[in-house]
Amino acid sequence: MRAEEKGNFTFISGATGGVGRAFAFACAEEGALFLTGRSEEKLSALQADILVKFPACRIEYFAADLTDENSRRAMYTHIEGIGLTFRRLINVAGADIQKAFEKYTDEKLVFQCRVNLEAALSVTRFVLGRREKGLEIINISSISGVYPMPYFAVYSATKSALSSFSSSLRLELKKEGVKVTAVEPGGIYTRPDVCKDIEGQGLWGKLSAKKPEYVARKSLAAVKKNKRVCRPGFWNKFIACVPRILPLSVRMRFIARRWAKLEKDAF
Ligand SMILES: NC(=O)c1ccc[n+]([C@@H]2O[C@H](COP(=O)([O-])OP(=O)(O)OC[C@H]3O[C@@H](n4cnc5c(N)ncnc54)[C@H](OP(=O)(O)O)[C@@H]3O)[C@@H](O)[C@H]2O)c1
Repeated sequence: MRAEEKGNFTFISGATGGVGRAFAFACAEEGALFLTGRSEEKLSALQADILVKFPACRIEYFAADLTDENSRRAMYTHIEGIGLTFRRLINVAGADIQKAFEKYTDEKLVFQCRVNLEAALSVTRFVLGRREKGLEIINISSISGVYPMPYFAVYSATKSALSSFSSSLRLELKKEGVKVTAVEPGGIYTRPDVCKDIEGQGLWGKLSAKKPEYVARKSLAAVKKNKRVCRPGFWNKFIACVPRILPLSVRMRFIARRWAKLEKDAF
């Protein structure tokens, strides 16, 4: 790789999932990609798919379990070894496990917290150390992080923490010219179980849900303008304003009634 090709990379975690894939295609035209996910096989297939559409795109990838410190360190060492620097970071990796708190095992609990929060913080710290001028950071949070969600409590808490971190970091790095945006989407049509879940929510689900390509487009436009938060779609913007109208106790009872009937765990 020539020296000028080592910069200009967009780092995408969770690239092998529905949202990450949409970001990878959205960013492929304008620069080089560094992709990560847990599966080498999925990453290689994704690289091949992108190259069909964007044959000139430079793609590097590394399979890593971001909940595992050693695996993260191996990825960082690999990146240092090939000398990449970054113009954009998109923290997508996440686990949307949804169930009553008492049904969690300790292992699942730790996994979800690590992948949704610790991984994003660690990758952010690393990429900041290898940033190009004007780095853009997109953190994929969720509308579930806007207020507490019984029966989706761990997910909601981790996404809330990620949004909070994102807002603080944005201010800390403003003078450095680093842009940071937290994205808080409603449902996104990705895995089959997520799509089924959205359909199961009827009109409410349909109003909130968006295609991953739409979320990627809106997020990239938002970070360019250094928006603190991006909530793709009118309905999601409206839901985020509900705290101004309805007290928390009413909202939580409403959410608990809806979420108590649903469970998902693809991880
Ligand atoms: N879909 C929605 O309705 C929705 C709504 C709001 C926000 N979000 C957020 O959007 C993000 C992506 O969602 P999605 O629907 O695209 O999910 P997805 O298809 O399940 O993709 C999840 C991605 O995260 C990666 N990942 C999971 N655990 C990991 C670990 N331990 N180490 C490294 N990578 C790991 C997965 O890699 P593997 O391929 O190796 O499993 C995959 O690339 C998540 O943060 C989610 O919370 C989703």
